[in-house]
Amino acid sequence: MDEFRFIDRSLSNAEKYVLREKLFHTDAVQPLWVADMDIATPECVIDAVKKRLEHPILGYEIMSDSAYRAQISWVSDHHGFEMKREWLSYSPSVVASIGCAIRALSEEGDEVIVMDPVYPPFYSMVKENNRALILHSLKQDSSGIYHFDLEYLTTQTTPKTKLLLFCSPHNPIGRVWSRDELSALGAWCLKNGIRIISDEIHFDIVYAPHKHIPLATLSSALLENTITLMGPGKTFNMAGFSISTVCIADETIRKAYMQEAHRIHIGEGAVLSHVAFDAAYSEGGVWHQKLLEHLYANIRMIEEWIINYPQIRFYPPEGTYLAWLDCRGLGLGDRELRAFFVEKAHLGLSPGLSFGKEGSGFMRLNFAVPKSVLADALEKLGRALDHDRKN
Ligand SMILES: Cc1ncc(COP(=O)(O)O)c(C=O)c1O
Repeated sequence: MDEFRFIDRSLSNAEKYVLREKLFHTDAVQPLWVADMDIATPECVIDAVKKRLEHPILGYEIMSDSAYRAQISWVSDHHGFEMKREWLSYSPSVVASIGCAIRALSEEGDEVIVMDPVYPPFYSMVKENNRALILHSLKQDSSGIYHFDLEYLTTQTTPKTKLLLFCSPHNPIGRVWSRDELSALGAWCLKNGIRIISDEIHFDIVYAPHKHIPLATLSSALLENTITLMGPGKTFNMAGFSISTVCIADETIRKAYMQEAHRIHIGEGAVLSHVAFDAAYSEGGVWHQKLLEHLYANIRMIEEWIINYPQIRFYPPEGTYLAWLDCRGLGLGDRELRAFFVEKAHLGLSPGLSFGKEGSGFMRLNFAVPKSVLADALEKLGRALDHDRKN
């Protein structure tokens, strides 16, 4: 498939290349860490941007209603969430929105629940806004599936616990939370007076039979209790456009959030991002289906490969393009594990520990790459493991 052929990004300012030397102390590693794709952004997006450039003035612009409507209809079609236009606002970054939401819904010194392991800015946003972290460890069952434990969570919370910062689908473990899990978690939050910031940025990268359910769709009480964060960055590989949206149905919460957004002048975003966003949601459906097929085939490739390497365990993700590799069977400490991947396998992955203490012994591999790139990475890892086994 043409869209998914190899494209050299090393001469662009791709973060995974620019920061490679700094992070891995060598440029001799294949970078499979940053959560974007080595796959061309859909042509409909590129074409829309080119078309907009035919107009020679690129002054301040406001995101159009048509762009918002395109997202509303995508989210309705794909996730059954009927959003109203007035619930939505622009944000340049989901992480920036998390910061605004934390400030809008809690006071300094309040406690915020974060599930460990998780995308690292979840921790930093809480700490940098002078709130306290309540770390809830996600635990694997006997089939390797991670779960939260509401009984235990009840013992962790205090009257100062105001917020849950939730990742759905979950990076890095690849869970797509089930309806039962979401209902139980939502009911628990309502019972305990805890508001929810639900980061759903990975919501379009989900593999059948799993289905993403926006937390806010479960009941009207949850709709009023949740800030949902979403965007096209992961779905259409357009994170470089810095565009996402914030959905808040409750008017009081929305006002509080907007006040924080104004305080840091979130603004209205960039003209080329607006048209890219509109085109992606209006015309990107077919491309998105092909992408999911490609990513699913890559999961199968890892599954087939790993049969020969039982020292690494891999539970296929239900969503996201991130493989969470359980490397504890190698018997290495986190430092040695990272060195093994860099020095022996020549691969630049994200160390599990960077996602929290529950990530110890794991590595996260981004498989949103052309097949040839994944095959090459697995071959390198296989060679390093074979060599290790012999010695
Ligand atoms: C769960 C999650 N939230 C947010 C982001 C980043 O979003 P943004 O670039 O819009 O801040 C990422 C990127 O990997 C992510 O995995």
